[in-house]
Amino acid sequence: MKKNLYINTIGCQMNVYDSEQIANGLKSLQYKMTSSIEKADLIIVNTCAIREKAEQKVYSFLGRLAGLKRKKPALMIGVGGCVAQQEGSKILARVPHLDLVFGTNAIGRLPDIVKTVESKRCRVVDVEMSEKIEELDFVKQGHNRGKTTAFVTIMQGCDNYCTYCVVPYVRGRETSRDPEIIVQEIRCLVESGVREVTLLGQNVNSYGKKEGLCTFPELLRRVNDVDGLLRIRFTTSHPKDLSENLISTFKGLEKLCNHIHLPIQSGSNRVLKNMNRKYTRGIYIEKVDKLRHSCPEISITSDIIVGFPGETKTDFEETLDLIQTVEFDGLFAFKYSDRPNAAAARFLNKISEQEKKERLQQVLDLQDRYTTQKNKALEGSIQSILVEGVSRKQNRMDTPNRHPDVQWTGRTFTNKIVNFNRSNGDIAYNDIVPGQVVNVRILKAFSHSLWGEPVSAEPISFGLRGDESYVA
Ligand code: SAH
Ligand code: SF4
Ligand code: F3S
Repeated sequence: MKKNLYINTIGCQMNVYDSEQIANGLKSLQYKMTSSIEKADLIIVNTCAIREKAEQKVYSFLGRLAGLKRKKPALMIGVGGCVAQQEGSKILARVPHLDLVFGTNAIGRLPDIVKTVESKRCRVVDVEMSEKIEELDFVKQGHNRGKTTAFVTIMQGCDNYCTYCVVPYVRGRETSRDPEIIVQEIRCLVESGVREVTLLGQNVNSYGKKEGLCTFPELLRRVNDVDGLLRIRFTTSHPKDLSENLISTFKGLEKLCNHIHLPIQSGSNRVLKNMNRKYTRGIYIEKVDKLRHSCPEISITSDIIVGFPGETKTDFEETLDLIQTVEFDGLFAFKYSDRPNAAAARFLNKISEQEKKERLQQVLDLQDRYTTQKNKALEGSIQSILVEGVSRKQNRMDTPNRHPDVQWTGRTFTNKIVNFNRSNGDIAYNDIVPGQVVNVRILKAFSHSLWGEPVSAEPISFGLRGDESYVA
């Protein structure tokens, strides 16, 4: 009998990848994905513990499921991911209508866990960790079928212990996957229609070091050799491990996209030291200069934490100054929040919520100027876009020439989102399909996306012609 699975994914791209593995694994128990929570026989929340707010989101979602469970007592509810790993059986005590808790290393065991809950109607907790990577059989089943882009986790865990961060405690020690297995997985994805992969890890540029596997640039070269793949992206890079070799790889590998996400966290050396980031502001700026020298078109994005314990006004001004010096293409900024286990939770001189809020706003306002300026500079240019699907924001009022039907969406080589009309002039409606590269003239820049018109399309080699249901 077919059963319905609903997954709510909170958190980073690694969780998106994990949720796909969860869905693939549960196919063996006849579960298929549903987008309707009311129809679900099993609801899984894949959780994130990175900031207090992400954790609160988990409990408020779980709270809302109580009514559903009352109406449908056979419904099973499970919690996976980083909050599950952090809290273990404590979540069962806090959420009475919960059936199972599984940690970040338990995805391979999930089908067995679900089978046990189904047959015995008992509550199960599995938060066992292992340094060894358990390769999942279902990875090779060509998941992601019908999508142009896919995430591929190349390493688990993190050994860096930044003092604010929970990841080393909930994802365990840094362990890299075998390059051959990674390449095999990417080949399977390409066979199923994928044209772009994003390689994932908390610190991808230290890939393979501990195990003596190949280096990260070498892995990129191997992935670059996969026939049919058009684009490669990766995230996240740690500035301390950004080698000359990786910097020059941007120039030499044709499929490697011109974008790097390089979190700085703070512009103050004093704060960086207290965060245990192991680089200085000077080293960071030097690396950015080298990247831009090696690959002038590269777009650089970053993360900033405001209000780290003890961050003075002068420290904060140094962060604003760094933003002005580097001129990032985009920035994610966060208010610091204490995480259980993380060392900074015990640091003195905490910054007030009001002060954090004000500092965050200043960072966002400042960055907005650069994002808009950089996007505006692209107006009139022709960008090559890998079409991902149909734009979700098709009815946004700020889109000029709104198409009565829908628009395509994709990204530039530098990772900027571009929406464009399906048909225009010489390019007929059916000439564009997801998975195809289209040259788009940029007509208008917004703060978070660009709008344009297609001017020519490269011939379709592996396009997903005919299926209009792919939504990016
Ligand atoms: N491994 C990546 C990022 C992981 S978490 C790296 O090292 O860059 C993503 C971002 O969340 C971090 O870059 C940081 O800016 C933010 N973050 C992590 N812990 C946080 C905390 N306790 N409070 C606020 N922001 C945090
Ligand atoms: Fe967290 Fe630092 Fe590891 Fe990134 S590098 S996951 S911020 S400990
Ligand atoms: Fe969150 Fe875990 Fe990712 S804490 S950011 S889901 S590794």
